[in-house]
Amino acid sequence: MAFRIEPMAAADVARCVELEQLLFPEDDPWAAVAFHSELAGPHNRYITARDDQGRTLGYAGIALLGDRAHPEAEVHTIGVDPSCHRAGIGTLLLEALLVEADRRGGPVFLEVRTDNEPAIALYTKHGFHIIGLRKNYYHPSGADAYTMRRPALSGHRARHAGTPDEVLS
Ligand SMILES: CC(C)(COP(=O)(O)OP(=O)(O)OC[C@H]1O[C@@H](n2cnc3c(N)ncnc32)[C@H](O)[C@@H]1OP(=O)(O)O)[C@@H](O)C(=O)NCCC(=O)NCCS
Repeated sequence: MAFRIEPMAAADVARCVELEQLLFPEDDPWAAVAFHSELAGPHNRYITARDDQGRTLGYAGIALLGDRAHPEAEVHTIGVDPSCHRAGIGTLLLEALLVEADRRGGPVFLEVRTDNEPAIALYTKHGFHIIGLRKNYYHPSGADAYTMRRPALSGHRARHAGTPDEVLS
C-alpha cells in the first residue's frame, strides 16, 4: 500500500487524539488542546501519513530550535496506528522530519521510554544514539526516558539533504 506524507491540519487533530489514546494510554496522551498548541508554534512542523483512501494512519512533529548559527531540532512525537505497525509508516514520518531538520543543519534530539524497543530501534536505525537517562520522565507512569541525539550531517550529505518544502508544504 502507498502512503503519503502531508502537513497536519486542524481537521486532523481529532484523529490524532484518537491515535494518542491508543498509543500512549499510560502516559497522559495529548488532548486536542496540546495538538492545537503545537500546530500554532511557529517553529514546529507537524505531519500526517495517509493511505490511498485518505485515512490518517500516523502523525509526527518536530521543533526547529536554536538560531542560524546554532540550529538544533527536537522530535516531539511520532505515532502510527497499531493496526499498521511495521509497514514502513514510522520510517516515512521520521525521515520527513529529518529532511526538515537537515535543511537547517544541527543535531536532532528526542526522548523515548527506556522500555520502548520498537521506537529505540527505529531511531537507532536513523543515526540516533543514547546520550542520557531522565529518571521518572513520563507521567503518570513514572517511566524513565533515554535522551537520544543524532549528530548534524556534515559535508556532502548536508548539502544534498532533501528540500522539505516538497514534502511539507
Ligand atoms: C515506533 C513506531 C512509530 C514505529 O512505527 P512503524 O510504522 O511500526 O515503523 P516501521 O515499520 O517504519 O519500522 C522501522 C524500523 O523500526 C524498528 N521497529 C519497528 N517496530 C519494531 C518492533 N516491534 N520491534 C523491533 N523493532 C521495531 C525496526 O528497526 C524497523 O525496521 P525493519 O522493519 O526493517 O526491521 C510505532 O511502533 C509506534 O507508533 N509506537 C507507539 C508510539 C511510540 O512509541 N512512539 C515513539 C515515542 S518516542
